[in-house]
Amino acid sequence: MKILGISGSLRRDSHNGELLRAAAMQLPPGVELELWEGLKAVPPYDADEEALPRPLAVRELDAAIRDADAVLISTPEYNHSVPGQLKNALDWISRPLAQSPLRNKPVAVIGASTGLFGAVWAQAEVRKVATAMGANVVDRELPVGQAPDAFTEDGRLADDELELVLADLLAELVGAGRDVLAEAA
Ligand code: FNR
Repeated sequence: MKILGISGSLRRDSHNGELLRAAAMQLPPGVELELWEGLKAVPPYDADEEALPRPLAVRELDAAIRDADAVLISTPEYNHSVPGQLKNALDWISRPLAQSPLRNKPVAVIGASTGLFGAVWAQAEVRKVATAMGANVVDRELPVGQAPDAFTEDGRLADDELELVLADLLAELVGAGRDVLAEAA
């Protein structure tokens, strides 16, 4: 089973990238997390460019989501909301809505911020947007605050309780992904 990991940060040393790698360590055998690295290349959404062929980066994102059994998005919080480039990419793949690759796709959202609250508002916004696009969204959050101190040297979450919250969230996402696979079999 394959989960596509999407970080909403473009930063090289992003805490949200770190969080996706911490999540990968918790996945059961047989489940792999593939990190999508194409966010920066997605151009601004433009309805005039919606007609085929769409921009390459958009087609690549579309294909990567279709190829995955589930999607895990790790989002930073910018001004209490979703970073613009992540929202822009989601807007692209919401069109046309009936054919969005996120439709019925299991999606979970996690997030890290340097503040105390762990990007909870941004996570809620991403869940709302993904739900509007018809995704099967896990109704859980993982608030990783004070991100520079949140990880151990070997890349796990330092807080044991957060590790458990992450495990529960991933178990639900993997379960939803397995349900889709079973239906397709
Ligand atoms: C932030 N940051 C931030 N943090 C937060 O908890 N709530 C917020 O509303 C904001 N707003 C905000 C706006 C902008 C424009 C920037 C650049 C940053 C801080 C943010 O949590 C921090 O930069 C994280 O490290 C971003 O995640 P990555 O890049 O480390 O994954």
